[in-house]
Amino acid sequence: MLIHLTQVLNKEELAQCRSALENVEWADGRGSAGYLSRAVKNNRQLPDNHPVARELGELVVRALDRNERFTAAALPQKLVPPLFNCYDSGGEYGRHVDGAIRPVTGTPYRVRTDLSATLFLSEPDSYEGGELVIEGNPGPGEVKLAAGDMILYPGTSVHGVRPVTSGRRLAAFFWIQSMVRSDQQRTILYELDNAIQEIASASPDQPALTNLAGVYHNLLREWADT
Ligand code: NI
Repeated sequence: MLIHLTQVLNKEELAQCRSALENVEWADGRGSAGYLSRAVKNNRQLPDNHPVARELGELVVRALDRNERFTAAALPQKLVPPLFNCYDSGGEYGRHVDGAIRPVTGTPYRVRTDLSATLFLSEPDSYEGGELVIEGNPGPGEVKLAAGDMILYPGTSVHGVRPVTSGRRLAAFFWIQSMVRSDQQRTILYELDNAIQEIASASPDQPALTNLAGVYHNLLREWADT
């Protein structure tokens, strides 16, 4: 399932990200790519130990912590600290898959990449191209979102970024290990949760709401690992 989360960052946070990334020294993105991806990757990114990457990564994680839709959709167990990239001057990332396991630099931890996330930091009309193309999922396969919005997609997807032919596309990207490993089960839980929320706001006194909430939690108990 592809999930579009709107306004994950507010205006102040976006401004902070953009100004911190304005004059930063980008590194060649190929440094962090695997053998196959390296051949099709042509972008720049901040090294994961760069102080700006750390500071903005923490800002993004704080924004995710307060975002209930993110929690409902991803059911996060742990995540790779957000990284930042920049596409311009024809930069692109051809079709590739992300590695299943990502080490977290400087720690003994590894994250299974159940979900991938791209958080758009540049306004879509400020650059040409740069669509994130995600294959094999229902929903729009080409994604180019408003600044501050984020797309969550299954880590199993073949995907890529179309060439940015003018302007500059800044984004944060990261991976999430979910408490629920299966995309199908996560989708069921997310849809059930959304339906419960809708009923709760339309008819909060409906007694069956408690039973439905019970079904949600029983499924979660059945499927989740903590
Ligand atoms: Ni990728």
